[in-house]
Amino acid sequence: MRQFPDGFLWGTATASYQIEGAVEEDGRGKSIWDVFSHTPGKTFQGETGDVACDHYHRYKEDVALMKELNLNAYRFSIAWPRVIPEGRGTVNTKGLDFYSALVDELLAAGIRPFATLFHWDLPQALQDRGGFANREIVEAFAEYVSAVHSRLGDRIKDWITLNEPSVYSFMGHALGVHAPGLIDPPVAAAVAHHLLLAHASAVGVLREDASARIGTTLNLTAVEPASDSAEDLEGARYADALMNRAFLDPLFGRGYPEEIAEVFPPLPVQEDDLAKISAPLDFLGINYYTRQIAKGSPRSPMKFDPVPGSGPKTAMGWEVYPQGLRDVLIRVSKDYSPPMVYITENGAAYDDPAPTDGVVEDPERLDYIRSHLEATADAIEAGVPVGGYFCWSLMDNFEWSFGYSKRFGIIYVDYPTQRRVVKSSGRFYSEVAASNSLP
Ligand code: FCB
Repeated sequence: MRQFPDGFLWGTATASYQIEGAVEEDGRGKSIWDVFSHTPGKTFQGETGDVACDHYHRYKEDVALMKELNLNAYRFSIAWPRVIPEGRGTVNTKGLDFYSALVDELLAAGIRPFATLFHWDLPQALQDRGGFANREIVEAFAEYVSAVHSRLGDRIKDWITLNEPSVYSFMGHALGVHAPGLIDPPVAAAVAHHLLLAHASAVGVLREDASARIGTTLNLTAVEPASDSAEDLEGARYADALMNRAFLDPLFGRGYPEEIAEVFPPLPVQEDDLAKISAPLDFLGINYYTRQIAKGSPRSPMKFDPVPGSGPKTAMGWEVYPQGLRDVLIRVSKDYSPPMVYITENGAAYDDPAPTDGVVEDPERLDYIRSHLEATADAIEAGVPVGGYFCWSLMDNFEWSFGYSKRFGIIYVDYPTQRRVVKSSGRFYSEVAASNSLP
């Protein structure tokens, strides 16, 4: 039995485009994910978020399920194109009404809202002007954040500026597998830097509210060298710089790692940018899924090659490696000392069986969650200030380019009927949350 600290937050995480649906409703503008998912060949079987989990209409039922599962926190994201459909300019009150009603529902259920301000669904109107590659985005983001805060800041106290800037910049602008689907490394470099500047502008807006707690969310990984050879150690250093330190270092006042300049096109850094980016945060959100083994590869563009691990894999092909979560938490705490850390995403996709008699057995996901909670408890014991754990995800949803083919939920969604069925992992998680301990 492992006890978690008093007041520990037990939550789940979702993102607007992955669950809401209702893409044409109440004045919502188009996002880059609408355009991308409707472009032939970009997603699994051409699937889109048009309907997704229909959460826009079913949020009450979904909050009731969270309550039934004894959860006391929920991380969701706000869709910029619902709030400011054209990206800048007119604020759409009806879009904010939805989040206002959701937040009221959460608070009435005793669930603390953590709002992510940008989880990738940029208004297409802004992408048409260059999106995050255009420095104009920094001002646009500040305006949007201010519109959201004026309406919801009386009730939302925990703010996450960005979700996974590295995935947004790299997968969306260098690999082209996420919206907006560009393959243009110099653009990806500009996007990465402007994301951090936009984060800084949001911090500036939110800091005017003394009651706001502000953080951001990074996807981090435990990098391990493939062997002790000098070449593999070098490879691991580059992998760590690109996958972890590229965003951690500037956020915590160290500027960009020198390796970035060696392997990446130049970043459009202007005077004072780095000072703004390193404004103090109240917490750091960490998304952890798997480790990264790196083999040195001095002649390859990134200077390392990824090597698959030997452990069991999830349906995403990601190795199950819970020790990596403990390592990441301890490392971040030791090297950067954030005042508080939340695990803002952790979870696994498996090919779940369809429900029989209202039951979905998902023993592998249950084990995944249990082992990662053990790793979390280890990190807490080692002194890391972990304040909460948000399982990805509350329910099965639109997994980006994989469409609905990958199920991450602790609640099963039967898409044709939109029926929700709590999986056995969800039942297990609800016991953990209720007892604040791991049985
Ligand atoms: C993360 C994303 C989240 C979800 C999980 C599986 O990279 O933040 O939206 O897709 O992966």
